[in-house]
Amino acid sequence: MGFPVERPRRLRRSELLRSLVRETDLAAGDLILPLFVVPGRRVRHEIPSMPGQFNLSVDEAVAEAQEAQSLDVPAVILFGIPPVKDAKASGAYDPHGIVQEAASSIKKEVGNMLVVADVCLCEYTDHGHCGVVRGDEIQNDETLDLLARTAVSQAKAGADIVAPSDMMDGRVAAIRKALDAAALEQVPILSYAAKYASGFYGPFREAAQSTPKFGDRRTHQMDPANAREAIREVLLDIEEGADMVMVKPALPYLDVIYRVRQAVNVPVAAYHVSGEYAMLAAAARNGWIDRDRVMMESLVSIRRAGADLIVTYFAKEAARLLQR
Ligand code: PBG
Repeated sequence: MGFPVERPRRLRRSELLRSLVRETDLAAGDLILPLFVVPGRRVRHEIPSMPGQFNLSVDEAVAEAQEAQSLDVPAVILFGIPPVKDAKASGAYDPHGIVQEAASSIKKEVGNMLVVADVCLCEYTDHGHCGVVRGDEIQNDETLDLLARTAVSQAKAGADIVAPSDMMDGRVAAIRKALDAAALEQVPILSYAAKYASGFYGPFREAAQSTPKFGDRRTHQMDPANAREAIREVLLDIEEGADMVMVKPALPYLDVIYRVRQAVNVPVAAYHVSGEYAMLAAAARNGWIDRDRVMMESLVSIRRAGADLIVTYFAKEAARLLQR
């Protein structure tokens, strides 16, 4: 056939037609909003490299979750910046730690909102690494016990889902076993299964004050050049008990999201990370791109690649546009 019988433009003539044949949709219900929780009361401190995002005290985090809920965003993911950091990351598994307090307050005060707790030690260690360090090596197996304690304490505090982001080998199995032993067998694990050693986490590390004091994260996070290895990582995590798997970052790794979607039958999440947000916010601030348009296009691309869920700093903003 071909032209002139075939004219793809016929289906693009009006918004009604375009929306009738649209292949991918984006809904507020697919989005998870990250929150950075800090000690104190009435603290709302803007993160310099992430304009529009804040370090929030627990009371302010509750208000933020409330607002997200009113926009039909179904979940928040919590990161904590503890008052003190030490070598054992004590703040991560303190029953009254910052994330535990935020999780319990949000569960108490906001109806209809899922709380996801990020499980990692890097925000809680004085050296900024994701695990126990001896010499200059991150100790995998010793770290598992602390991660499992962290996940259990978060779930006891009310977290609905735990999301390990540390990339230690065997953490999903260790966390599953510990949750089950604590009668928390109904708490799902969203594992950051394919998490790359990425420069796009820069602004997050400013927000969470979690930049490693020496070395980097390349001995546990994945090499950006590898895609087959992502499949190996997600399959291992599912075997260990992950209920959902995540790819992170999102836009520079759309091919990985696509491959993971083909390879597994569990829900796939993608994390549209801090650096992706910062780039877009900066260019929009300069008037170089249209913030709303590029935001929506980015989120739709991530869905089109195969992500069911998107963790994004744009969650509220996108949800607001979707309500119109
Ligand atoms: C680790 C963690 C990080 C992010 C989420 N969980 C930082 C890291 O691995 O250094 C990054 C998220 C982002 O950049 O938005 N707790």
